[in-house]
Amino acid sequence: MRALRVMKIRSAASSKDLSRSELVVGFVPEKGKPTLAGVLVDAVAHAETTGDIARGARKWCLFHPPVRVKGPKRLAFVGLGKPDELDTENLRRAVAVAQANAEAAGVASFDLVIGDADHRGIDAFDAGVVVAEGLVLGAYRYQPPKKEEPKARKAHDVAVHYVGRQRASFEDGLALGRTAAVATNWARDLENMAPNHADPARLARAAKGLAGGSLKVKVMERAQLERLGMGALLGVARGSSKPPKLIVLDWHPRGARKCVCVVGKGLTFDSGGISIKPAAKMDEMRYDMCGGGAVLGLFHAIAHGALDDAARKTRVIGVIAAVENMPDADAQRPGDVVRAFDGTTIEVLNTDAEGRLVLCDAIAWAIKTYEPQKLVDLATLTGAVIVALGHECAAVLGNDQALVQELIDAGKAADEPLWQLPLWAEHKKQLESKFADLANINGSHHGGGTIAGAAFLWHFVGKTPWAHLDIAGTAWGGRSKEYATMGATGTAVRTLLHWVRGQK
Ligand code: BES
Ligand code: MN
Ligand code: ZN
Repeated sequence: MRALRVMKIRSAASSKDLSRSELVVGFVPEKGKPTLAGVLVDAVAHAETTGDIARGARKWCLFHPPVRVKGPKRLAFVGLGKPDELDTENLRRAVAVAQANAEAAGVASFDLVIGDADHRGIDAFDAGVVVAEGLVLGAYRYQPPKKEEPKARKAHDVAVHYVGRQRASFEDGLALGRTAAVATNWARDLENMAPNHADPARLARAAKGLAGGSLKVKVMERAQLERLGMGALLGVARGSSKPPKLIVLDWHPRGARKCVCVVGKGLTFDSGGISIKPAAKMDEMRYDMCGGGAVLGLFHAIAHGALDDAARKTRVIGVIAAVENMPDADAQRPGDVVRAFDGTTIEVLNTDAEGRLVLCDAIAWAIKTYEPQKLVDLATLTGAVIVALGHECAAVLGNDQALVQELIDAGKAADEPLWQLPLWAEHKKQLESKFADLANINGSHHGGGTIAGAAFLWHFVGKTPWAHLDIAGTAWGGRSKEYATMGATGTAVRTLLHWVRGQK
């Protein structure tokens, strides 16, 4: 893989002389005075008299101080909007606006100044996290393979100056936010990659590259999956010339007493199989591995120290079912009956409902092998979730309300909101089949496609507390966030990190 070109973030002493800076960026609230030091205060005061300061949320204004005056070459402000509307998401978005405009200004480096008054209501650690995230996520661009070498990126060197008494907490947050955002961008690269490049073997290699220390990675090949009897997963893989991989990441800190599993759908391409999808936007089915991408991103963060100060007593297992769903002479047909790892027979009424088929084997195997206290799966499982919830939140469903709530809380902390949908015994019954224990789709008269997908998985989790995240709406295609403007969002990496860090 190409070397990840990570933005350089330095935290600088607030007293550092900014007079040589190419660009100094500060924040202004909608009302009241900014509490920034020195040159910025004077500049705001002056801009106030000329009426040139824009204070609305995410408004950007750039000034060129007179050439003979000693000071930075350029000064800019980002509006923070109304103080009572300032939250972590709005701060992250404001920082992404600063990054984008600094880049557009063409500077090689810039200085970002943030004072304690700029994050009133947000604790200093969290402010540090979102500032790093806004910078690093905002700077993300997918670098497609091209004939020409890409140009060096602008504004890729940022010094962050914290003005206030909680500098230590802010900088701890800055470090964690950077780790989380770099991991997210790394996942986004895999997610955006062409489906012929990011195939199951490629995901397996990416996972292996993370191994070291307390993190072990193994990849189970087709022959082993056959021996284990994963007929549901293997049925999906039949139509592809690319062999399936079950990728297992095992973070096992010394003295771990508890174990949690995260399982990701890793369909590197979903053509629908014999129940083939329409041609329009079929290329977007490269993103059908974003559940797996979230799991990989989580382990990238873990491998780079994101749990070193927390959750040391929890073993974290990641499982990714990396498979390609293609039509072929040997592909499974609608009506085929397959036997899952746990012995359940499944009638495959629609080969395009393949995510649940690979996940049911991965989940049942993970539960049998690791006996986790909790299991979370993530999948771009249904188009129906986009109909129900759009692109602003993902769906969460599960068999254990306390676990569902933990994920809702983690999503809130990461500003990746989750919205719970119901999952009831009735939904489980809707998957009855005349030809097997279970059908892989419900009848169209039942509706509720997202619930049906979760209900199918529910058959395989037994008594283990389990939550399912349907991320088909949030993995790509949203338009509202300045730090995710194109392609894959790397969704749920940060949510999973918050959740795992909260496990005691
Ligand atoms: N990967 C798709 C879900 C999907 C579709 C996500 C479009 C984002 C956009 C999944 O494998 C799928 O095809 N689901 C079917 C299920 C149906 C056959 C019951 C769907 O949503 O149409
Ligand atoms: Mn499908
Ligand atoms: Zn799919």
